[in-house]
Amino acid sequence: MKRFFQSSVAILLMLAIITSCGSSTSKEAKKEQVSIDTGLITVGFSQLGAESDWRNTNTESMLSAFTKENGYNLIYKNGQQKQANQITSIRMFIQQDVDYIVLAPAMEDGWDSVLQEAKEAEIPVILVDRRVNASDKNLYSCWVGSDFELEGKKMCAWIKAFADRRGITGDELHIVNIQGTIGSTAQIGRTRALANASREYGWDLMAEVTGDFTESKGKEVMAALLKGYDNINIVYCENDNEAMGAIDALESAGKRVGPNIKNGEIMVVSFDGVNEDSLEYCRQGKISCIAECNPLHGPRVEALVETLEKGETPEKFNYVDEKLFSSLNAVSSITVDEKEYVVEEP
Ligand code: AHR
Repeated sequence: MKRFFQSSVAILLMLAIITSCGSSTSKEAKKEQVSIDTGLITVGFSQLGAESDWRNTNTESMLSAFTKENGYNLIYKNGQQKQANQITSIRMFIQQDVDYIVLAPAMEDGWDSVLQEAKEAEIPVILVDRRVNASDKNLYSCWVGSDFELEGKKMCAWIKAFADRRGITGDELHIVNIQGTIGSTAQIGRTRALANASREYGWDLMAEVTGDFTESKGKEVMAALLKGYDNINIVYCENDNEAMGAIDALESAGKRVGPNIKNGEIMVVSFDGVNEDSLEYCRQGKISCIAECNPLHGPRVEALVETLEKGETPEKFNYVDEKLFSSLNAVSSITVDEKEYVVEEP
């Protein structure tokens, strides 16, 4: 196994400052500083950005797993939500001859060439969180993350059960979808689940607009949707940050947010369940239901590296178990693909 040796014991590389991956905040720049110690396994981690609380928790999980104490030099790069930046980082990791590349890809398409370059350099690539649409699955070693379409299916099963319980018919549900970053696995799976459920149950899915997984865009998009539609009664947000922004826009427009659709409230549902503010909103019923998306992948990726270090082949696709949260007692469990999921307190 190759090692990224440097002659001195620890050389401080101010990688954030010297590379061309866009401007970082000083906090991010600090995270990107790295000292390379001899004899440790060197991992280059291309994170896609810092767009959400989920993402920041995910980054922290990776930084805490790949420590010197655990035997690693971690070269962390924040792609600032731009695939071109991530490709530049991967090329830099290849030049540095790291032992492993870990990629959290912004979107699915467009990775073939750079993954081919990593393969030719004999550097194993581990995908984390989202997936890539590669022409050859051997361009990466393995993947760990969420089943995003299952998350969406769970949410739609909850909405269906809730509406049935309250005597609301499918055609009375007027839904807008504030989508995640277009082309990302999380967006594709969650959007597909809602589109399929809307067709199946006769829901009125009026609009799908991206909120880029950020609070500010969620707010902006919600304000625009309110101008275009006067009968929205469900806002399906593809993450909690968008939901927080959407709730802000709804309340600023004088709307009441909550599960009593029949009494004129607008129901908000979302994904993640990571930050305390959105969990608190869920306890209050402002967010009616949250499908968990678990960000704590650091130890999982480390376990995959350990498997590869032993010369073994890990499972190609590694899914994480996730929960469904709601404080409304209308629905105690839902069933998706013949599996029952108990709805838990947030
Ligand atoms: O890919 C996971 C998604 O990305 C999370 O749901 C979202 O919050 C993040 O930005």
